[in-house]
Amino acid sequence: MARRPMMAANWKMNKTVREAQEYTAALLPRAADAEDDVDVVVCAPHTCLHEVGRMAGDSAVIAGAQNFYYEDSGAFTGEVSAPMLLDVGAGAVIVGHSERREVFGETDEMVARKTKRAVEADLLPIVCVGETKEERDAGGMWDKVSDQVGRVVEELEDVGGESIVFAYEPIWAIGTGDTATPEDAQDAIGKIRDLLAETKGDDFAQSVRILYGGSVKPENAAEIMAQDDIDGALVGGASLEVESFVELIGAAQNAVARTER
Ligand code: PGA
Repeated sequence: MARRPMMAANWKMNKTVREAQEYTAALLPRAADAEDDVDVVVCAPHTCLHEVGRMAGDSAVIAGAQNFYYEDSGAFTGEVSAPMLLDVGAGAVIVGHSERREVFGETDEMVARKTKRAVEADLLPIVCVGETKEERDAGGMWDKVSDQVGRVVEELEDVGGESIVFAYEPIWAIGTGDTATPEDAQDAIGKIRDLLAETKGDDFAQSVRILYGGSVKPENAAEIMAQDDIDGALVGGASLEVESFVELIGAAQNAVARTER
């Protein structure tokens, strides 16, 4: 089954509304050129999301958020809900990014509840999983990642693989310039797909998209995108400049062209 590649920008806590407008205006025509081949997602801070969502409209760009809370409304000071994200034009949301888990104490339980709520609300969750350097060095990479994935899929009933995206992001590779080798990334992502086949069946596993994240940049994107099980990338630093993000979209397009040859 051919899965549609995805290139997702994670701006993290960066950009004013004005900067978001300039970036989105420059990105729209370039994303339109790639529309036949690649899903382009821009995960903006909540303060810019309304503007990115408005400008993206029905274009090829999907506006995404970086976090939300699983209740729909109520006394949850500082939080935003899935209906609120949909209201400002978001079509996707990052769930359980390692910075949310490590800096803000998000647990596997919260990540699972958020993922379930996003799927129910028709908001595409990009669920992040990954191990620390210490866990990898101690040989515990797969224990950690399989627990994180297992906890999320346990909550999902009667859900097709196309309603969720996973991102394997080894924590030691995020923002460090230290990328996993394409083979290590393929190995981890292949194992995640095998686990999904065991727990949710082959159809689910073959239709779910699994991205790699962690110091992806134009120089290493082609090698990463060439791996069989890697369906795209979640990109932090190299997504902040529109030109470099456009190069990454190009790398995803080239990967499509190669598989079609
Ligand atoms: P990076 O971040 O590309 O800057 O390593 C990736 C991420 O945190 O999603």
